[in-house]
Amino acid sequence: MPAKIIDGKLTAEQIRIEVAAEVDKRIKAGKSRPGLATVLIGDNAASQVYVSSKQKACIEVGIESFGHELPASATQEEVEKLVSTLNADPRVNGILVQLPLPAGLDEQRVLNAISIEKDVDGFHPLNIGRLAQKGRDPLFVPCTPAGCMYLLEKEIPSLEGINAVVLGRSNIVGMPVALLLVRANATVTICHSRTRDLPGVVRQADVLVAAVGKPEMVRGDWVKPGVVVIDVGINRVEDATRPRGYRLVGDVAYDEVAQVAKAITPVPGGVGPMTIAMLLRNTLRAANLSD
Ligand code: GUN
Repeated sequence: MPAKIIDGKLTAEQIRIEVAAEVDKRIKAGKSRPGLATVLIGDNAASQVYVSSKQKACIEVGIESFGHELPASATQEEVEKLVSTLNADPRVNGILVQLPLPAGLDEQRVLNAISIEKDVDGFHPLNIGRLAQKGRDPLFVPCTPAGCMYLLEKEIPSLEGINAVVLGRSNIVGMPVALLLVRANATVTICHSRTRDLPGVVRQADVLVAAVGKPEMVRGDWVKPGVVVIDVGINRVEDATRPRGYRLVGDVAYDEVAQVAKAITPVPGGVGPMTIAMLLRNTLRAANLSD
């Protein structure tokens, strides 16, 4: 039986409706309108698309959006000065510095400069450090990993004891999603470019989270029947039959894996919309924490 399609677009839409209702309630109660500042540095085309989707989503749910753009030539001091201005601005509840930064800028120093109460991306070392420790709770959880967990926990309400395999160990997705899976009491294996017998390891997974950025890397014969697959990859592959000359595919060969899996996220329409929904939730949370 082909896999159930996990509809991230629909789930994200439901979350956006909930956030919009909560924002409305805040305003009716005489509280401030939540605000998100986005900082886009340089001219990375994908980052421009992501940031403008985030700004549009904010406006749709009643969150104020403050867009800031700096040229790729911006200095470390200029970026940190902007962050510190935003830290001090009471209209701004959340600060999102879009990654990756242009070469020459020190990402760690920039992320460190964001006030942890406004760290709606959850990338501040204090928030990530708390995520990695027992008995500690971060103020915010990174958006894409939180979106993966939301979809997973809808499919499998208890992840306790299951074998979860994470492909990729990036700061933005792989590592934090692995930490979240551990917190949910899954048994977690993190795979990366040096992993031996990758198909053999992936075949052990009850849950697979793929976040490596390699188009259709995971094949149908790599997975165990009944696996639940969360595909974080958004890769462009050439396709002359499409008006734009390309199509988007995940890190998982969808057609093959969907024959074997119990449930799978599509690309597009899976994890992507959930990232933005979680950002809206985090921004609302930041506003609520600031009251
Ligand atoms: N680049 C890719 N994903 C993200 C994200 O979730 N937040 C930020 N700030 N940059 C990203």
